[in-house]
Amino acid sequence: MTAQGVQDVQALISAADIQARVQALAGEIRRDHPHGVHLVCVLKGAFVFLSDLSRALANGVTLDFIAVSSYGQGSTSSGQVQLLKDLDSPIEGRDVVIVEDIVDTGLTLAYLIQNLKSRGPASIEVMAMFRKPEALRSPVEVKYVGFDLPNEFVVGYGLDYAGRYRNLRDVGTLSPHVYS
Ligand code: PRP
Repeated sequence: MTAQGVQDVQALISAADIQARVQALAGEIRRDHPHGVHLVCVLKGAFVFLSDLSRALANGVTLDFIAVSSYGQGSTSSGQVQLLKDLDSPIEGRDVVIVEDIVDTGLTLAYLIQNLKSRGPASIEVMAMFRKPEALRSPVEVKYVGFDLPNEFVVGYGLDYAGRYRNLRDVGTLSPHVYS
């Protein structure tokens, strides 16, 4: 079955399952941070998750955005993380949760955690909607995870291939002929 009727994308996780998981993750954050959190959205991929997550949380949530890139236009990590857009506000003394769409090699998060820790937040944690198998070998701690994914090329719910498919509500695997 295709994801949201899009040719070349085989359905993997439905929009309904994703939304249910968002609610559960929001519940975990509310439990762990009853006085609120400062969410840092890692653009671009996490914007969809951030949008749903922030609205599932109660009051006391503030937001900021940071943009990094390690993949460029390709389908594999370049190994180099570039800061494309910095946060607008200081995070000193704040309880920060980094919101990611996906953690794969962990390279992006390792860079971000080191960078943000140097700014003196009260605490810093990571929430990722998706996790690839390689991430389990990364030393980076991801406290909150939505779904573990197979080692395939996955798109939708913020995840793209060459800028496409981010807007799919479902998540699916991209047919290899598209990217090979
Ligand atoms: C993706 C994703 C993560 C990163 C994860 O970003 O949004 O930030 O890759 O990969 P890693 O764990 O191997 O570092 P990408 O660089 O593709 O930018 P995008 O979010 O703008 O698509």
